[in-house]
Amino acid sequence: MMRHVLVLGANGQIARLAEKQMLADSDVHLTLFLRRSSRLKPEDLSREKVVDGDAADRNALTEAMNGTDIVYANLAGQNIEDQAKAVVASMKKAGVNRLIWISTLGIYDEVPGNFGKWNNQQLDGYLDRYGAAAKVVENAGLDETIIRPAWLTNKDEIDYETTQKNETFKGTEVSRKSVAAYVTSLVKDPAKDVHKSVGINKPNTDGDKPAWY
Ligand SMILES: NC(=O)c1ccc[n+]([C@@H]2O[C@H](COP(=O)([O-])OP(=O)(O)OC[C@H]3O[C@@H](n4cnc5c(N)ncnc54)[C@H](OP(=O)(O)O)[C@@H]3O)[C@@H](O)[C@H]2O)c1
Repeated sequence: MMRHVLVLGANGQIARLAEKQMLADSDVHLTLFLRRSSRLKPEDLSREKVVDGDAADRNALTEAMNGTDIVYANLAGQNIEDQAKAVVASMKKAGVNRLIWISTLGIYDEVPGNFGKWNNQQLDGYLDRYGAAAKVVENAGLDETIIRPAWLTNKDEIDYETTQKNETFKGTEVSRKSVAAYVTSLVKDPAKDVHKSVGINKPNTDGDKPAWY
């Protein structure tokens, strides 16, 4: 079955990798939603459409939802909670249920030990904003999957394991390409990990800090 995915923040670093993987590994059609949309040139016009918009703009979102089966939100920013509210409201209005939402490690204080302490110090403020946004997504009554990546790298590798919400977080790092691969696996099997908040890390990267710090 051909699915239609709406990518919010489509010029984001993970999003661009996921777009490539989704087009290569599945027959999905993509609507690429981003600010200043001239930055993105679709490679396959028969399967990709570019839409200009801000993810805090409910009207722009609702319009872009038309025909969408799955929303993949790869967003960021100080107003991330407002963006979450706008995305949820627009999905409800349009009758779209499946949401993949990129968040971060640490929103439940689930990162153990010295790395957890360091992470809390580094991400002070940001964790509260991202936690509030994740709460909006979890309480929306949608078919959501929240993804909590470890510290991101640009390594050209797909190598990851996952943890669930009630488990302590593992590892310190993960490649953006791995997060994109996990997103792609959800798009290919939308029933997978519904109502889950999933930590994602590279195996055997435990430490007090990411290796490059
Ligand atoms: N760095 C880490 O180690 C780490 C670890 C865990 C999680 N994360 C989080 O993972 C997420 C994805 O990572 P990434 O590397 O793909 O990030 P990224 O490249 O910064 O992508 C985020 C995208 O969000 C877009 N955006 C922000 N506000 C928007 C708005 N109001 N409307 C539309 N688009 C908006 C940005 O678009 P513009 O280009 O228009 O600004 C940007 O393309 C981020 O939220 C990041 O904070 C990061």
